[in-house]
Amino acid sequence: MKPYIQVNCAMSADGKIAGDDRTQVTISSPEDKERVKRLRKDSDGILVGVGTVTADNPHLTVKGLGYDENPVRIVLDPRGRTPDSALVLDNRAPTVIVTLESCEKTWPDATVIRIGRETIDLEPLMDKLYAMGIKTLMVEGGGETISAFFKANLVNRYTVYVGNLLIGGKDAPTPADGKGWLAADGIKLTLNCFERLGDGVLLDYTVSR
Ligand SMILES: NC(=O)c1ccc[n+]([C@@H]2O[C@H](COP(=O)([O-])OP(=O)(O)OC[C@H]3O[C@@H](n4cnc5c(N)ncnc54)[C@H](OP(=O)(O)O)[C@@H]3O)[C@@H](O)[C@H]2O)c1
Repeated sequence: MKPYIQVNCAMSADGKIAGDDRTQVTISSPEDKERVKRLRKDSDGILVGVGTVTADNPHLTVKGLGYDENPVRIVLDPRGRTPDSALVLDNRAPTVIVTLESCEKTWPDATVIRIGRETIDLEPLMDKLYAMGIKTLMVEGGGETISAFFKANLVNRYTVYVGNLLIGGKDAPTPADGKGWLAADGIKLTLNCFERLGDGVLLDYTVSR
């Protein structure tokens, strides 16, 4: 069994999720931030790639929730690059770091799952997370991680907030980066609804199978 997986991110009106030097840019409106807070609260786990940890150093917690109420934070970190000082390792929520089998790094405040030889195998990882009680998983980014989930055909729902700004730059990350195409004909989405939230728009899709 696998968790229900929702990818959520925010992009500019030109389709970028950060600056071309990977610095964080505020894209979400206050109304969208409230929505993301509710979504995090309703999720059993929140997952990011290590690129997001090194670029943004996020907490990935919900303000006001205690250790056991917060979703479990999960970091895909094949080679163990998460610094010991990263905020995802603070004591505000449980943390799981996922590495390759060959990685020997440990973190005192995290549970470590070692899976895969060359790349982290997302299918068996999802089975493991489900068995640990993570029935709903929010994938927050960044672009390489989101792309890996789409390529593995694991995404159930995709919500993307389009903010009222342009970021520009051909090297700026987008919601689905990584090597190669996601699929020869693209991955087909069904638009469920859209909603104005402040000066931007939330697009809500399910993935067609
Ligand atoms: N606007 C938004 O909503 C939003 C949200 C989150 C992040 N961001 C932005 O996104 C940017 C970071 O994105 P990113 O694409 O550079 O990084 P990322 O997706 O956060 O992390 C990528 C790294 O995670 C590891 N990884 C991911 N999937 C893997 C898999 N299946 N198997 C093995 N390793 C895997 C790899 O680590 P190794 O490199 O060690 O191999 C990979 O390089 C930042 O600029 C951040 O600000 C924006």
